[in-house]
Amino acid sequence: MQTIFSGIQPSGVPTIGNYIGAMKQFVDLQNDFDCYFCVVDEHAITVPQKRLELRQQIRGLAALYLAVGLDPAKVTLFIQSEVPAHTEGAWLVQCNTYIGELERMTQFKDKSAKNEKQGVSAALLTYPPLMVADIVLYHAHLVPVGEDQRQHLELTRDFVERFNNRYGENGPILTLPEAKFVKEGARVMSLAEPTQKMSKSDKNVKGFISMLDEPAVIRKKIKSAVTDSSGVIEYDPENKPGVSNLLSIYAACTGESIASLVARYEGKGYGEFKTDLGEAVVGLLEPIQEKYHAWMASEELDTILDTGAEKARAVSNKTLNQMKNAMGLGRKK
Ligand code: TYM
Repeated sequence: MQTIFSGIQPSGVPTIGNYIGAMKQFVDLQNDFDCYFCVVDEHAITVPQKRLELRQQIRGLAALYLAVGLDPAKVTLFIQSEVPAHTEGAWLVQCNTYIGELERMTQFKDKSAKNEKQGVSAALLTYPPLMVADIVLYHAHLVPVGEDQRQHLELTRDFVERFNNRYGENGPILTLPEAKFVKEGARVMSLAEPTQKMSKSDKNVKGFISMLDEPAVIRKKIKSAVTDSSGVIEYDPENKPGVSNLLSIYAACTGESIASLVARYEGKGYGEFKTDLGEAVVGLLEPIQEKYHAWMASEELDTILDTGAEKARAVSNKTLNQMKNAMGLGRKK
């Protein structure tokens, strides 16, 4: 069976962008792959976090993973900082990665520009090697992610090829992973600025729908989503980014195709379209929220995370040792 790895940062409550681009895929893939899903808290601290909020968001993200339908009997769910091989592996990755490669990452450029005032941590630059370590430690074949992670996955593939060439005299050591994107919604845009990606750490809360937003808030945010003055519901991301984004969200939440939605709303106004979309998003998120609260209140959540970390430690340590041996570190074991 092939292996899947993916992670989400607990740097805020996940948005419907995270759900549509990533989490929904996880649920669909869990029956056919050996899956590892991680709460990547060590990635989150590359920018300043409030300690107690972070702690709440870490457990909350694990509860959401379960609430969207991941089955702990099928997948391994764990918290990155509870599995030390990730940071140790990241060092080995850094030693085989060039500064130039890291400086070219668009996410580094964006995030370092945003955090310039408070200082840019060295870890913001070395963030992708930690992500590379996450993936290679489990010999992942597939990595389901949103479009914004494409460049990090390319870096991962370059690293694996380089590592295998440098150290794999007796054959490849690491598995070459491939990114997996959804057809509809791999890049959900902000409701307030539809040319920008929807992000859980956006200062403007009108830009995103959090997976834990109250139904009334969801309806209101969709009602006030930026569109245009033409009043025509059609899919044209270049000229009508707002409406096209709403169509993508609608399609991803209901499974109806964009073409069918466009046909159904022909001659109708944005008001009706937005009301219906609000109901569709509420209909999707309300049952998830109920399950989320139940998981948050249950001790079973912690048992699942303990079991997950134990399994992840065993698997990742094995690969870490293979990498260390290949590089000539320590004594041969
Ligand atoms: P993060 O936490 O920013 O986002 C988690 C996942 O959600 C996807 N995503 C989106 N998809 C569609 N539209 C959007 N607006 C949107 N915003 C986010 C992301 O692409 C991602 O799949 N570096 C990663 C976390 C990570 C990781 C990994 C992922 C760390 N190690 C190993 C895969 C494998 C990140 O910042 O995701």
